[in-house]
Amino acid sequence: MTAKLILGKDVSEQIYGELRQRIESLRSKGIVPGLAVVLVGEDPASQVYVRMKGRKCEELGMHSVTIVMPESTTQDALLAKVAELNADPSIHGFLIQLPLPAHIDEKAVINAVDPSKDVDCFHPYNVGKMLIGEPEFLPATPAGVQQMLVRSGVDIRGKHVVVVGRSNIVGKPMAAMMMQKGPGADSTVTVVHSRTEGLADITRQADILIVAIGKAGFVTADMVKDGAVVVDVGTNRVADPSAKNGSRLVGDVDFETVKEKASMITPVPGGVGPMTICMLMANAVSAAERRAGI
Ligand SMILES: NC(=O)c1ccc[n+]([C@@H]2O[C@H](COP(=O)([O-])OP(=O)(O)OC[C@H]3O[C@@H](n4cnc5c(N)ncnc54)[C@H](OP(=O)(O)O)[C@@H]3O)[C@@H](O)[C@H]2O)c1
Repeated sequence: MTAKLILGKDVSEQIYGELRQRIESLRSKGIVPGLAVVLVGEDPASQVYVRMKGRKCEELGMHSVTIVMPESTTQDALLAKVAELNADPSIHGFLIQLPLPAHIDEKAVINAVDPSKDVDCFHPYNVGKMLIGEPEFLPATPAGVQQMLVRSGVDIRGKHVVVVGRSNIVGKPMAAMMMQKGPGADSTVTVVHSRTEGLADITRQADILIVAIGKAGFVTADMVKDGAVVVDVGTNRVADPSAKNGSRLVGDVDFETVKEKASMITPVPGGVGPMTICMLMANAVSAAERRAGI
């Protein structure tokens, strides 16, 4: 059996179609959803993401602001920029691109963002709201994974979901979301990480296996149950002399062997990747609707 592919491009196009209608409806009321992204320093990967976010905003007819600050920016100067964006009525949501330079306290910056504009869902208020099942925002990558499962018709309720990885931006919120009561969740969740004993015995029990650890090809076919749904969040750049730039992107799952065992699988690239920006845009639109009382 070769697994059916779950493609982020297809699922995100569906969601962008819905977002376009919501944006049109806001614009007809004189509201243009505004998203700002703050980039501190010159990390090349961050520059690419920030450019992609700006381009997508404009494509959707949203107001897009990109603020680039030098690597030497002080924490006070960044906090002042956050305060400015908190107060700017044309901005419904904003985020500070991570990672920040080492001299800046990331937590202090995240805590300074007005929770009603926290489209990354990193502020402890929003993390808490998500955990108690009253989300105002959902973190983009786990929300993207959930949408991929739901929109691909995966039966989630009552199933065993194993999440590999426990980071604050992927693993932990993913687990919290899948254990909530209600549609798209209601599953039994196990989280495994680098200190887990007998990890493969646990992943083999997963009906839905979600992997986010950042280790190329870590999950091999022997770690996967026959017919499982496998979601690979990992993005790892590995050397490939045959590729034009000498490297290529691979996931945390050994795609070629696991696809022969799984019933559905997300490839890398082309799987979860496109969903993250899409769900970020969805959060910005929700923030604008909420402010408008819609
Ligand atoms: N597609 C997207 O849009 C998207 C978005 C976000 C992240 N990602 C990718 O997803 C991956 C994970 O990102 P992250 O931010 O969650 O990473 P992270 O903050 O580095 O966390 C990695 C997690 O994996 C666990 N881990 C590491 N090695 C392990 C091992 N050998 N066995 C079991 N668990 C292990 C760690 O365990 P401990 O807690 O015990 O250290 C940690 O909980 C990365 O490749 C990243 O690039 C992709």
